[in-house]
Amino acid sequence: MARALCGVVALDGPSGTGKTTAARRLATEFGAGYLDTGAMYRVATLAVLRAGIGPDDASAVVELVRRIEIGVGTDPKEPSASLDGVDVSEAIRTEEVNQAVSAVSAVPEVREMLVAEQRRIIRKALDEVGGIVVDGRDIGTVVVPDAPLKVFLTASADVRARRRSAQDAAAGRVSTPEETKASVERRDRLDSTRANSPLRAADDAVLLDTSDLALDEVTAKLTELAEDRGLLCGEVAGTRR
Ligand code: DC
Repeated sequence: MARALCGVVALDGPSGTGKTTAARRLATEFGAGYLDTGAMYRVATLAVLRAGIGPDDASAVVELVRRIEIGVGTDPKEPSASLDGVDVSEAIRTEEVNQAVSAVSAVPEVREMLVAEQRRIIRKALDEVGGIVVDGRDIGTVVVPDAPLKVFLTASADVRARRRSAQDAAAGRVSTPEETKASVERRDRLDSTRANSPLRAADDAVLLDTSDLALDEVTAKLTELAEDRGLLCGEVAGTRR
């Protein structure tokens, strides 16, 4: 009998900790949905940049974000992001977006709108497929504070910068290790020190340092934690128990 993930797994932590890859693998393996909340903040940021609005101009940012349609797909095998119905999966990964996303995501009204939409997507996935792995910065603290499994991933700045560089290179984006490290550190500093929902581990999160772990090992550890919490349930003829 195939096992399925039932319930919400909240995965938080800074970039380059292996969160996204491990979340997608876990969701794929156990037939769950996957929600990349960072992609939603990136789509909002792309819209801001395209509209020529300064990312620090909070009232203009809020006004714009109210009017746009941010779409994210929850298939872990093929995550997608769209802006007003047009696919922007690639366009949201540029250094320009990296540089502006912390300012946009620090605006409280932007977070309020996106968190409401994230909760709606999570409820839908729970109704339709029974489980979802949610990747972000404030999932365990704000978005789903009652998630049955919360994991906070960490890794040294050097390791995170190296992973980011490898991802950039694989996607054909050019960056030097020094630039990547500076960019990753800057974003983490801004994300951790903002007033509203800063990046931090929930009190009941399991801390997992991935500096010396291969991605397979991170996925294996998450699977073990999900199993311990009773989140891997049986699947019988399309229904779960
Ligand atoms: O996961 P990512 O690197 O794609 O996220 C991009 C940015 O979005 C990140 O620097 C901070 C913000 N973010 C956030 O504030 N809250 C989340 N739940 C997810 C991301």
